[in-house]
Amino acid sequence: MRRVEIFDTTLRDGEQSPGISLSVEEKVEIAHQLARLKVDVIEAGFPITSEGDFESVSRIASEVKGPRIAGLARIHEADIERAWEAVQWSSRPRIHTFVGTSDLHIEHQMRSNKGEILAGADRAVRHAKSLCENVEFSPMDATRTEIGFLSEVVAAAVEAGADVINIADTVGYTTPVEFSRFLTELQERVPELKNRILSVHCHDDLGLAVANSLAGVGVGARQIEVAVNGIGERAGNASLEEVVMALATRSDHYGTEVGVDTRQLANTSRMVSNVTGYEVPPNKAVVGRNAFLHESGIHQDGVLKDRRTFEIMTPKDIGLEGTNIFLGKHSGRHALKDALEELGYTLEGEVLKRAFVRFKEIADHKKTVTAADLEAIAADEVGSF
Ligand code: KIV
Ligand code: ZN
Repeated sequence: MRRVEIFDTTLRDGEQSPGISLSVEEKVEIAHQLARLKVDVIEAGFPITSEGDFESVSRIASEVKGPRIAGLARIHEADIERAWEAVQWSSRPRIHTFVGTSDLHIEHQMRSNKGEILAGADRAVRHAKSLCENVEFSPMDATRTEIGFLSEVVAAAVEAGADVINIADTVGYTTPVEFSRFLTELQERVPELKNRILSVHCHDDLGLAVANSLAGVGVGARQIEVAVNGIGERAGNASLEEVVMALATRSDHYGTEVGVDTRQLANTSRMVSNVTGYEVPPNKAVVGRNAFLHESGIHQDGVLKDRRTFEIMTPKDIGLEGTNIFLGKHSGRHALKDALEELGYTLEGEVLKRAFVRFKEIADHKKTVTAADLEAIAADEVGSF
């Protein structure tokens, strides 16, 4: 089994979500939860951008044990030094340096040229490596970069000592098949990459961030960059919980393993949602409110007999307890009987039949039948028995 490392960027790229601004205390609290979740790397922030970011990266580096702690830096000397000042307190620090490599970024954003970018990447990685034992290099907008130039930049970063090469789909432009081919060709052109960790960082502009990240794993990526609940710039980053549960549930397919404690996923998602104010959509995979709820009678009947009939993972796997049956107008008598039993009422035969008729009447008028509704039905029917 190949180990895939989970690099969490909730506190850096995730915090770049419009409207999210976290205090130092909130970031430290989230970082402790990420350590309980056992992610491999926490990208704690971008130290040069503000005093607050510098302080939170420094605090996380000194207080949070377990994961490697990374700080982001452009290829400028001052950025790299500031990142090092902040992450140096960790027993496992990382400097993560990046530069745009596509023509669009080089010409229109940085108003530079390929020669300068190549020399800048080489210089930055050497400088970072002289300060910190562990360095990650990201060519930004890599998936829209001409592969010949990308290979030159990646080869230079590897030669300069980068431990991790992170291929960023910065604007969520690529597709799974295209990304697999692109990464395969890159590895053929830069064979030295096999002695480094190949990483992927995918954005969700076309809703493909998770699929693209998994396509990366399929062709050799050993690190995936993700954010809790998929938060991040614009449409966000690949969602941590979806990537992790895909790898955990389909380890047979990917031939990989992850170190994350999946039973901490529900907690972590809830905490990040509360702290950021970004709600989790009810139908979101893995951590959405409905992810393990079964409404239709046929599904409920199957799950009550053997949950594997309609569940590929269990609520327990992500740390949730309790019932997974949603009582609504599509529910059957079997589900009603079970829910009543959980409330302490055992109804059989004619009494159950009458209770079921009343339940359907209520379900026709209300979206959700609550425990209070069931109590009322059961108390009446048991009383009239
Ligand atoms: O999306 C991106 O390119 C980034 C880099 C800093 C890795 O977030
Ligand atoms: Zn990003």
